[in-house]
Amino acid sequence: MAQAWGTLHPPTPQPVSAAACPDIATLCARHGGRADAVIEVLLDLQHAKGCVSDADVAAVALALNLSRAEVHGVRSFYTDLTPEPVAHRRIRLCRAEACQSVGAERLRVALEVRLGTAIDQAGPDAEVALETVYCLGNCALGPGVMVGDRLVGRATVDRVLAALPAGEDGDP
Ligand code: FES
Repeated sequence: MAQAWGTLHPPTPQPVSAAACPDIATLCARHGGRADAVIEVLLDLQHAKGCVSDADVAAVALALNLSRAEVHGVRSFYTDLTPEPVAHRRIRLCRAEACQSVGAERLRVALEVRLGTAIDQAGPDAEVALETVYCLGNCALGPGVMVGDRLVGRATVDRVLAALPAGEDGDP
């Protein structure tokens, strides 16, 4: 009996050739082709392209002799790595317990109102993306926020907006 397409047995992904992704093969070689350099390779891709696509995952797996699941697992674990491009101005608010206990949810509401956007709803074309993370390793100085690559401790709306680069229209 014919199986409905994509229900129980999804199609096997097409093999990726290293020749199709010479930039990724070169990038991996620059990191010594070592499997334990997978995070550095993925971060370089994220910075260069603004995302790490599924095709990138497959090519990195091939170049580093890892399974796609292993590389995908790394990409999905770290919020710095995204499968699609993210907004240029990115604010990540810690909503884990320690930060919740010192006002992270009040800060979330205040940021949503001030920025005019709901958390975790921004698409890649958004002017500013407000996103949830769970622990930035800065629990003693909560609420913790990452504004781009900059960590803001004891965050307030004013401190977050002060760290935010100006938008295209010059607005904070
Ligand atoms: S719980 Fe927020 S930084 Fe750790």
